[in-house]
Amino acid sequence: MSQTFDLVLGVESSCDEMAAAVLRIGRAEGSARAGHEIVSSVVHGQAEVHGPYGGVVPELASRDHVRSVSDVVARALAEAQIVPEQLDGIAVTVGPGLVGSLLVGMSFGKALAYRLGVPLVGVHHLTGHLASVELAEPIERPYIGLLISGGHTALYRIEVGGSAALLGETRDDAVGEAFDKVAKRLGLPYPGGPSLARAAASGRRDAVEFPRPMVNRGGLDFSFSGLKTAVALEIERRGALAESDVADIAASFEAAAVDVLVGRARRALRDEGLRRIAVVGGVAANRHLREELARAGAADGFSVHFPPLDLCTDNAAMIAAAGAVLLARGERHGLALNAFSRAAIDAAPWTEPAGP
Ligand code: KG4
Ligand code: ZN
Repeated sequence: MSQTFDLVLGVESSCDEMAAAVLRIGRAEGSARAGHEIVSSVVHGQAEVHGPYGGVVPELASRDHVRSVSDVVARALAEAQIVPEQLDGIAVTVGPGLVGSLLVGMSFGKALAYRLGVPLVGVHHLTGHLASVELAEPIERPYIGLLISGGHTALYRIEVGGSAALLGETRDDAVGEAFDKVAKRLGLPYPGGPSLARAAASGRRDAVEFPRPMVNRGGLDFSFSGLKTAVALEIERRGALAESDVADIAASFEAAAVDVLVGRARRALRDEGLRRIAVVGGVAANRHLREELARAGAADGFSVHFPPLDLCTDNAAMIAAAGAVLLARGERHGLALNAFSRAAIDAAPWTEPAGP
């Protein structure tokens, strides 16, 4: 436990990004809070692999990971200007995600840790996303964490010790998935979220009054499938879409999705009596969401914190940051570590419950 960790390598491959990053740990205890330095962060995307299919094809994702993993890790080490022997520990994403994809980064991390004789820890992908925001900026805890990505939509209470208690989550689609599917129906290029946001910029947000599912309901769960269906029906109703139709539908959908997220965020802050919220995951890159949450924060008196854009989408710096906390706590994983498609954040199947 007295071991200090100076340089930690993170490896992330839970979906269609292969990422590796070297983090210089700011404090001996390996807190995920600001003070770490991202020495290098390399992300290899697969837009050209999945683009023709309009969505991630799992088998193709893992095959591309096999091709890119050693190069991505080598680039992260080269950009950090270190040799592997200088690493003090390795953190790999264990789940949730596509198992075939996860196994590639994880196996590479295992092999490298074994060769170097350094400790290995498995990291929950969502713990990584939640750690991304404090990499850039310390936030006084407790605060609300809103995690919005392609696979997940959830609200957490981030406790003083850093643990995350689930407050509510989506009952069906993740919000990023809804962005991606609506984009595909509108004929916008993959990846859908950013292209939908671009199309929305020239559309009218009030062109179509789409439903705001669950926004007036109690509790903190989300639902996006009704909204997605309403958009599909509108697209069908209009038939052939002019560019202005695409822009209007995109803008109206984005407005509805953002309203739902802002509404739930406000309720979580109110219910928990907190005045700070951190928003993480790929959809946190959305400009309209950033503006609307800032507006709500100004009205209600809460502060809103986002990671920088390159830490919103999948990356390995966040995995190294979350891994550093586990390494400092003395957690270690062996070569038998497995990958998991699903895993609760507070009861990950590969690890003991978090200590105090
Ligand atoms: O966190 P992430 O990279 O991967 C997951 O863990 O899922 O999130 C990817 C998701 C995708 O659904 C993508 O469409 C969405 O984030 N996304 C966006 C934007 N940029 C990425 N959604 C809306 N607006 C954006 N600007
Ligand atoms: Zn992610």
